[in-house]
Amino acid sequence: MNIFGVIDKKRMGNALSKEELELAFMGYLKGTVEDYQMSSLLMAIVINGMTDEETFDLTDLFLNSGTIIPDDAIKGTRVDKHSTGGIGDKTSLIIGPILASLGLKMGKLSGKGLGITGGTIDKLNSIPGFNTSLSMQAFINSVQKVGFAECEQTDEFTPLDKVIYSLRSVSGTVESIPLIAASIMSKKLAVGAKCILIDIKVGEGALIKTKEKANELASIMVKIGEKYNKKVIPVLTDMNVPLGDNIGNALEVIEAMDILKGKENDLSKLCITLSSILYKEAMDVSIEEATEQVKESLKKGKAYDKFVEFVENQGGKISELQVAKYIKPVKSNVKGTLENISALKTGELALKLGGGRVKKNDEINYGVGIRINKHIGDNIKYDDILCYIYQDDETDYTEEALKIFTIK
Ligand code: URA
Repeated sequence: MNIFGVIDKKRMGNALSKEELELAFMGYLKGTVEDYQMSSLLMAIVINGMTDEETFDLTDLFLNSGTIIPDDAIKGTRVDKHSTGGIGDKTSLIIGPILASLGLKMGKLSGKGLGITGGTIDKLNSIPGFNTSLSMQAFINSVQKVGFAECEQTDEFTPLDKVIYSLRSVSGTVESIPLIAASIMSKKLAVGAKCILIDIKVGEGALIKTKEKANELASIMVKIGEKYNKKVIPVLTDMNVPLGDNIGNALEVIEAMDILKGKENDLSKLCITLSSILYKEAMDVSIEEATEQVKESLKKGKAYDKFVEFVENQGGKISELQVAKYIKPVKSNVKGTLENISALKTGELALKLGGGRVKKNDEINYGVGIRINKHIGDNIKYDDILCYIYQDDETDYTEEALKIFTIK
């Protein structure tokens, strides 16, 4: 069998053996399979899906393309979380510090933006000096010392996911349950926490559009976890409306810090809920007790202090974080009640502003983005400011920005 045979077999809707998957995927990592051949295979997988067996094999290939942190390499109660991606989703930057401030250990492998959805690594890279490519030993030391470390896929950690992830992002091949499951679970298994919360985003701004598909993804991730003796806790959350007020890499870091300093909104509520679920599972306490601990950490500023420690430990200089040069208000040209804020249209505008990638090696602009100024249910008058656009050029984005809001 050669790469054409593998592509043809999947195009016809047949299951691939582990050897065939290895030929194609490891071949891509080694450079014997080209971008266009892998894109074609990925598209065939998006269209025809994979059996559970193929998804297990693919996860295994992703995982074993790099090194796996041994269970006993990090002392303490280890947890992990991952979101399937959405617009304005900066939950990891809040949940990690909360849980670390409560004594848990969270070492997390994340990715860059995927399609129109943002990625935690891009958000962290907006902080000057922040190192998202830690060696395995530096990663282990950081988790042990600070309680929270976050790093991207590297030559050591799931290198196969690193190359496939960046190709999927720009080839229309992100929306596939087996590809998402293998990508996320390999990263979670590589660092080895026993208890893993998966925040499955559902809605127009997410990779998964329906509850039915989200449940399918939840089910295969739990099965992968069982195979490796890990507890996977899937939680389905809404992604029809952007999460929080800020969309854009540096802007999202700013909002994460605001939440850690006490700002309350839909994002803070979600972070408290998810942190409490994970704390409860890891520490075997009631959900009420877990929620109390989480809220206390936020109230006393412990989670914020932990965030600062985490950023400094990885070389970041928060005081040098910069947003774009121009901040342009977008005013309403109608009056009524704000009925919807479209996550999809917000994500599309963020991409257009330069906050995401259209090609694999695109440089992104970390400072651009959108700050939403109104919330669903608000009464809107003519000329009320709906949002602010952070941009570095003089283009007028008012028309696109107004389409984000439904006012009736
Ligand atoms: N996050 C990942 O790490 N991989 C995906 O495929 C989707 C979200």
